[in-house]
Amino acid sequence: MCGIVGYLGNRQAAPILLDGLAKLEYRGYDSAGICVFSDGKLKVAKAKGRLANLSGLIDGGRAISGTVGIGHTRWATHGAPSDVNSHPHMAESGKIAVVHNGIIENYLKLKEELVRKGKTFCSETDTEVVANLIEYYYDREKDFAEAVRDAVGQLEGSYALGILCQDYPDTMIAVKKESPLIFGFGEGENFIASDVPAILRYTRRVVYLDDGDMVVFTKDEAKFYDAFFDPVEKKIETVDWDISAAEKGGYPHFMIKEIHEEPKAIRGTLSPRIRDGRVVLDDIELSKEYLEKIRRIYIVACGSSYYVGCLGKYILEKTCRIPVEPILASEFRYSEPVLGEDTLCIIISQSGETADTKAALEEAKKRGARTLAIVNVVGSAIAKAADDVIYTWAGPEIAVATTKAFTTQLCVIYLIALYIADNLNTISPKEYAAIVDELMVLDQKVALCLTAEKIEKIRYYAEQYFSVRDAFFIGRNVDSAICLEGSLKLKEIAYIHSEAYAAGELKHGPISLIEEGTLVVAVATVDQLFDKTMSNVKEVRARGADVFGVTTEKHAEEIKKTVPSVILVPETHPLLQPSLTIIPLQTFAYYVALLRGCDIDKPKNLAKSVTVE
Ligand code: AGP
Repeated sequence: MCGIVGYLGNRQAAPILLDGLAKLEYRGYDSAGICVFSDGKLKVAKAKGRLANLSGLIDGGRAISGTVGIGHTRWATHGAPSDVNSHPHMAESGKIAVVHNGIIENYLKLKEELVRKGKTFCSETDTEVVANLIEYYYDREKDFAEAVRDAVGQLEGSYALGILCQDYPDTMIAVKKESPLIFGFGEGENFIASDVPAILRYTRRVVYLDDGDMVVFTKDEAKFYDAFFDPVEKKIETVDWDISAAEKGGYPHFMIKEIHEEPKAIRGTLSPRIRDGRVVLDDIELSKEYLEKIRRIYIVACGSSYYVGCLGKYILEKTCRIPVEPILASEFRYSEPVLGEDTLCIIISQSGETADTKAALEEAKKRGARTLAIVNVVGSAIAKAADDVIYTWAGPEIAVATTKAFTTQLCVIYLIALYIADNLNTISPKEYAAIVDELMVLDQKVALCLTAEKIEKIRYYAEQYFSVRDAFFIGRNVDSAICLEGSLKLKEIAYIHSEAYAAGELKHGPISLIEEGTLVVAVATVDQLFDKTMSNVKEVRARGADVFGVTTEKHAEEIKKTVPSVILVPETHPLLQPSLTIIPLQTFAYYVALLRGCDIDKPKNLAKSVTVE
């Protein structure tokens, strides 16, 4: 996944492009580059590595003058990170410049055809094929927009494109299919970007482009066309969150900032949907008649969003008494899933752009299931494609490792569970009210997990364990599901090998890996399973493991008989307990990564949204 940005106006483009790319680095940071119209020519500067390398190459943008330009920050797919594979890519003659986010699936076939027509290439990328294909058509039609239309008509795959043509110094063209792209309206200037933070300091008036859309624009005018090149009117939306949401706000990393934003994000997600003690989901149209027909619920997602689905199984089955199957999107789409009109597919995605999850959504729709998306990015592909969407109002999540999106997705699962259970009468009014009461104070209880005292204790344990080689997270029932996310956090930001196991499962094999110094994080918040988990802790301690436990204040004294190091979280309704348990696991991973000197917001090999399969 990559980030693209474009500027066309009266100001110097290069600094604006670099600023925008800095807000998009979370989308990929293997290399970066810009192309600016300068003295009547398309001038390109690009560099392998972080954006700082490019900025240094062009003196912060001062070395390239011009008021029209495109920029790109890359997460390598075709061709290793290198200067030559960096975007923008030029056509052979240098007349066409392109930045691209996505994958052109038929690029090799197109490249062979272009080579046969005499074109030469210098990179391994699919994007250079797009540039040369546009030039091929331009050389014949001498019309920039028509050449782009005809070239794009040959492309298979996903693309968000920003395109310049040397003969049209006042014009830029952008095209969108499957990869995200927005258009921003300024005063005497216009913008394109992969995501809102890149242009929020310049404009709040945006259009979320749809698949097939093409926009041909100057600094004063924008013409939109659909996939058939017919003029189309687009809805202008106003972005209502503040730019600080896309800045660090004094925190050392976006991740710790976003952890501390979790109470606010949870409140923002829940409170508009609980009125007078009732869950109100105006966002969706799941009628009582439809809900009564449901015989199975799939929860389809990737990564941490999938782990929300694993928690969702316990929560939805307990409240709605409907079989629930969480399944990885990358497996779902090739598993010939058994589903139909009696199946509800809940699709979870922070970015709303994850390729596997998008494809799984289309598979579910094709097979007749109704789809309900839980998404954080407004106007994203999954949000638009699903039959219904419930947004997690978490605000932009910049850190690659998710935190507030995870906890707000979980909140939406609680809301859906109560909504369905209420319609199906599978929960008593007393139980319903008890859960709603706890939802109303959940944000405050999460905040109690983030006090200076709690953080200090987490940091202490991080100092004890940051050099471990292997870690196991164990728990039972919802605790085993939350262990999946706790383990992933340690893997993805601290680069420590970690596994999550149902506590009762260790003795069936994995316990052979437990040795002196292995770290075991035991999560034991489910009352009726507490003693059994403590037995499992004794088993691993007997084999030399170092253990620290996470449990509720109720078990404070009991757990100390078995586990010397303990993190306590406030108690809430058992079904909501994971929302509190996850907080110390997130902060533990953060402080371990900090001690290990890892690049916390941009972990190696990762990107915020995986828009490739
Ligand atoms: C989360 O910390 C990871 N970065 C990753 O597992 C992520 O949850 C996964 O790629 C799914 O992303 P999505 O929610 O945007 O679809």
